[in-house]
Amino acid sequence: MPSIKSVFLTVVAVGVVAVAGFGIYAYHGAIPAMSASERPSFDAATIEKGRVLTAAGYCANCHTAKGGEPFAGNYPIATGFGTIYASNITPDADTGIGSWSPEAFRRSMHEGVDRNGSHLFPAFPYDHFTKMGDDDVDAIYAYLMSEVKPVNEATKENSIPFPLNIRVLQAGWKLLFVDFGRYQPDTAKSDEWNRGAYLAEGIAHCGACHTPRNAVGAEIASEQYAGAAIDNWIAPALTSANPSAVGWTASEYTKYLETGAGTYHGIAAGPMGPVVHAGLRELPDSDLKAIGTYLADVAGNPDTDPADNPVVKASLEAGRPDPTYRKDLGERLYATACAACHYNAESVQEGRPDLAINSATRLDQPDNLIHVMLDGVSAENGTKGVVMPAFRTALSDDEVAAIAAYLRDKRADLPAWNDLPKKVADIRAQAETH
Ligand code: HEC
Ligand code: HEC
Ligand code: HEC
Repeated sequence: MPSIKSVFLTVVAVGVVAVAGFGIYAYHGAIPAMSASERPSFDAATIEKGRVLTAAGYCANCHTAKGGEPFAGNYPIATGFGTIYASNITPDADTGIGSWSPEAFRRSMHEGVDRNGSHLFPAFPYDHFTKMGDDDVDAIYAYLMSEVKPVNEATKENSIPFPLNIRVLQAGWKLLFVDFGRYQPDTAKSDEWNRGAYLAEGIAHCGACHTPRNAVGAEIASEQYAGAAIDNWIAPALTSANPSAVGWTASEYTKYLETGAGTYHGIAAGPMGPVVHAGLRELPDSDLKAIGTYLADVAGNPDTDPADNPVVKASLEAGRPDPTYRKDLGERLYATACAACHYNAESVQEGRPDLAINSATRLDQPDNLIHVMLDGVSAENGTKGVVMPAFRTALSDDEVAAIAAYLRDKRADLPAWNDLPKKVADIRAQAETH
């Protein structure tokens, strides 16, 4: 029988090995700075490929501050723990990545470690970029190093409190939550499906917004694409739990990702706007089609004709709402303020979503609907040539709440949302501080 002492010694030994093991796991050396003369040169095709991938990864969205130079960093990202500023990734040798070798850049994208060997915070979605092949990462490097203007601008210190700001602790987070390594094709699926999955899980990092996160901010792998709150909006589920009344099909996804609007589904507003308009649409059609094929499989939707859908039929049969003789405030306001544009499933042909079908009226939370009603969708942020007007000054909180309640009850026929007027007041205040 082992004595207490030997058990104790074993425990200590295991602890020492674990600490040493963690140290080895956590430690990354510095990669020597690259001098200007060592900079590789790149061919035009690689640079162009890099430009498209840089767009599809929305690198500029996070790495450009409001009114700042492209890719010069200092865009603030609010996390539950403090604000992190995106780094300067222009080819400036002192404050950007100008002295980073291709190897150092690859390590940052694949392992979330900077050139000096410090761990990066996962506000940088390296947990997705780790899936990308070396060729694609090298193409992004080629684009950033040769096409982006070097800007000398130091990145601000983050406001993460001690001890969470100790970067080596990030190694523990990585050990627990990040599945490092390149994308592994699923041989049971087609090449097109695998291409779509590679893009969606890697460069386009759809899960960064559409997958719920745990208490310490890591995506919950078993709930991939189950829908999540992001920047005061709701990124709807992209699984069979998607609330839209008409199932998303491969071609509908492709259209939405290419143009920012699906025929029956509505549009990419809020944080989804730049994903489409500043990024994805740069991808070749074959890639957008591949993402559509992959997502349609994730959602498990049969490719049925929307004209046979009972909600679409009911909407068409209901005809145009009549603004006269309304008892209910919401119904009256809807008929006067909205119905000229959103009358029924026919209006979708002219680019105005049917609100009986749209996820904004069908999600468990009213946030997206309220955002769109208050602030509209401008021609720049939405579909070119059409505008969804803002009702921020025209309608009071109670009026916006009444329209939302009417749409939820009479058009979507779903359980009422609670505390609507308060929710409207909160969202009105949030947008004002942005
Ligand atoms: C969701 C926001 C976001 C997106 C999208 C994003 N980044 Fe970042 N990135 C960050 C943040 C925040 C940091 C700083 C992390 C830190 O300080 O630990 C960062 C850091 C980096 C670094 C390390 C730089 C350094 O000096 O340490 C590189 C390289 C980088 N990003 C490249 C990219 C590229 C290339 C893309 C597009 C493919 C991209 N990022 C997309 C937020 C983002
Ligand atoms: C920066 C966060 C963010 C990223 C990244 C993101 N989304 Fe979204 N997505 C949203 C939000 C927020 C909405 C709701 C927008 C609205 O209601 O107009 C949305 C809406 C959608 C919708 C419409 C769903 C519905 O039922 O109306 C689809 C489809 C979609 N996203 C697909 C994608 C795909 C595919 C990717 C990756 C290529 C992606 N998203 C990346 C935040 C994001
Ligand atoms: C002048 C015409 C017009 C009026 C009036 C109007 N809308 Fe819209 N609405 C649009 C257009 C156009 C779009 C699509 C914008 C785009 O594609 O960029 C839209 C989009 C929407 C969306 C879709 C958001 C999404 O994420 O898919 C919602 C919800 C919406 N409107 C609600 C309303 C409500 C509620 C009212 C009344 C308070 C209203 N609209 C009044 C034209 C209008």
